[in-house]
Amino acid sequence: MDLTGKNIIIGICGGIAAYKTPHLVRLLKKKGANVRVALTDAGTRFVSELSLATVSQGPVYRSIFPPTDTHGTDFTTHISLGEWADALVIAPATANTLARLAAGLCDDMLATCFLTLRPGKPVLIFPAMDGQMYLSHSVQRNIATLKSQGAVIIEPESGELASGQCGTGRMPEPEAIVEHIETALLSLVHSSPLHGKSIVVTAGPTREKIDDVRFLSNYSSGKMGFAIAKAAGMRGARVTLISGPVGLATPPGVERIDVESAAEMRDAAGNFFPSCDIFIGAAAVADYRPAAVIRGKLKKNDPELQFTLVKNPDILGDFGQQKNPVQLAVGFALEQENGIDNARKKLEEKNLDLIALNFSDRRTSGFEVDTNMLTLIKRGGPATELPMLSKEEAARKLLDTIENICRQR
Ligand code: PMT
Repeated sequence: MDLTGKNIIIGICGGIAAYKTPHLVRLLKKKGANVRVALTDAGTRFVSELSLATVSQGPVYRSIFPPTDTHGTDFTTHISLGEWADALVIAPATANTLARLAAGLCDDMLATCFLTLRPGKPVLIFPAMDGQMYLSHSVQRNIATLKSQGAVIIEPESGELASGQCGTGRMPEPEAIVEHIETALLSLVHSSPLHGKSIVVTAGPTREKIDDVRFLSNYSSGKMGFAIAKAAGMRGARVTLISGPVGLATPPGVERIDVESAAEMRDAAGNFFPSCDIFIGAAAVADYRPAAVIRGKLKKNDPELQFTLVKNPDILGDFGQQKNPVQLAVGFALEQENGIDNARKKLEEKNLDLIALNFSDRRTSGFEVDTNMLTLIKRGGPATELPMLSKEEAARKLLDTIENICRQR
């Protein structure tokens, strides 16, 4: 399985098998995963932070308390790291860490990630220890507690242990651990109602030509729409991304169609209207275009210049009117005031199932920035205000809501 774009935390505890974890991290990186390592204090006795930082190409997290003397330190990493992850894998997991997790402690980064991981994300735990210790009442009780919380516990293998004795307590080889991770992530993808669905996402700005060298446009960077396309692809959807001019890389597995003007975006989108299951309009489509495009370069002879602008097609509105009862239409509303009222009006006028209201302050939300504050309004439902999130996380929340609508149908 291609793990491109998957965010995986590898939690490493203090057992002899920890020496195999740099290899595990390398295997995951080779498959395209983004890997972050949470290492316990005891883990540092068995594997070096430098090795893990080198192979994961990122910091190794240990304490939940960041240094306070470093400029630019993120003081909330202990929360955001767990939220970032698509899976938490603890290998090797010692008796001590099993007890900490079962008790709900959060005394280091690994234990905190366990608590802050988003609901539904897989936790895979690979206990590895002495055979008698593994079979002890306390360890088995803690394992049962973790299982009851949804963690997947992978039985250790039998064979020669560090003590020289034979027993059950060996961590599986890194190749086998990767297979377990793939299986867990794959079953998650298959369980999404978006799996196999055809989703069209519009993103970015449109450019409306004035003459051959100038255009009307807006500040949309495409980040929000691309994040939605990426997140939908990761849930197993077949995604077509129709994008205005932006400087972003195409998310893995997503089919991309580049367009320039609203008319081109409408034509491209129109080809997919009949066959798509869900249409998501995240593009900032110019509402108007110059009535006529001047050939060549407009001369600056006149002290004043007047244009006639004509209305552009409403791409999302067209889809909303044409859609059949099983298709879903999702839009955005970019507002400056009376946000909820205006968003509800757009939801009705365009015949949408869901609208995501955002404000154009360009500091925490809206155009260009990496974060957004969405308020999600379902047809006939209340307005659900989300906090300021990365656009990636906001996209995931939007898709969670779309999944709920699909499940309720
Ligand atoms: O691209 P980024 O820099 O990440 O910024 C993200 C964003 C601010 C562009 C995005 O979050 C957003 O709000 N997109 C919609 C912007 C917009 O045009 O809003 P609107 O309220 O004017 O339009 C309402 C809806 O109709 C939108 O879904 C829009 O895509 C759609 N529309 C609008 C006009 C038109 N002619 N055709 C459309 O399909």
